[in-house]
Amino acid sequence: MLTDSDVLRAFPAIKDIGDARLRKLSTDVWRFVSERNPAWTDIERIPLHPTMPIATHGNLVKHVIAMARLSEALVPIYRDLWKQDLDLDTFRTAVYVHDAAKVIEFSEKDGAIAGIPGYNHAIEAGRIVRELGGPEPLAHMVEAHSLSGPLVVPRTRDAQLFLLMDPMCLNVFPEQGPGVLERHLKANGREDPKTLERYRSPI
Ligand SMILES: [Fe+2]
Ligand SMILES: [Fe+2]
Repeated sequence: MLTDSDVLRAFPAIKDIGDARLRKLSTDVWRFVSERNPAWTDIERIPLHPTMPIATHGNLVKHVIAMARLSEALVPIYRDLWKQDLDLDTFRTAVYVHDAAKVIEFSEKDGAIAGIPGYNHAIEAGRIVRELGGPEPLAHMVEAHSLSGPLVVPRTRDAQLFLLMDPMCLNVFPEQGPGVLERHLKANGREDPKTLERYRSPI
């Protein structure tokens, strides 16, 4: 079982979320998933995916921290260049909860980690946010965040940006094996597009 203090120790910047309801939601989602699979007792041991060993790619905590830092950077960029006023607390909260359902999805058996086939951690996280009374736009950001498996197409600015941020914050590169885009194409039943030139403009 992961406690609130385990979650706050891994993600100390949750306390910077100004909106008290969103700050509480950030830990409530982790409590919800831990109650369903209490086997995880050390949040640092949760990988990104069973096929992405922590030793090579880093753990889930680092991915979440990277997304939180990227959110801090995005807000002033979008405000200054395009007058798009992103709500930092909404992005922060989406970051902290978006992959929490991996606590339910993954389990460790004899030192190997396995996922539940067909489980969509993004859609589940969206359901959990709704069940806990979180804002609908935030639930949508979370449910549409993943390019792995059947894609939930983002319907909002915030959900579109959030979906694009997620694969950026992964230490998973072609130099280390299949890169993020190759993995995502495969997860969606599509081949790596052949990049050999087939047509050349006459001009
Ligand atoms: Fe995810
Ligand atoms: Fe993620």
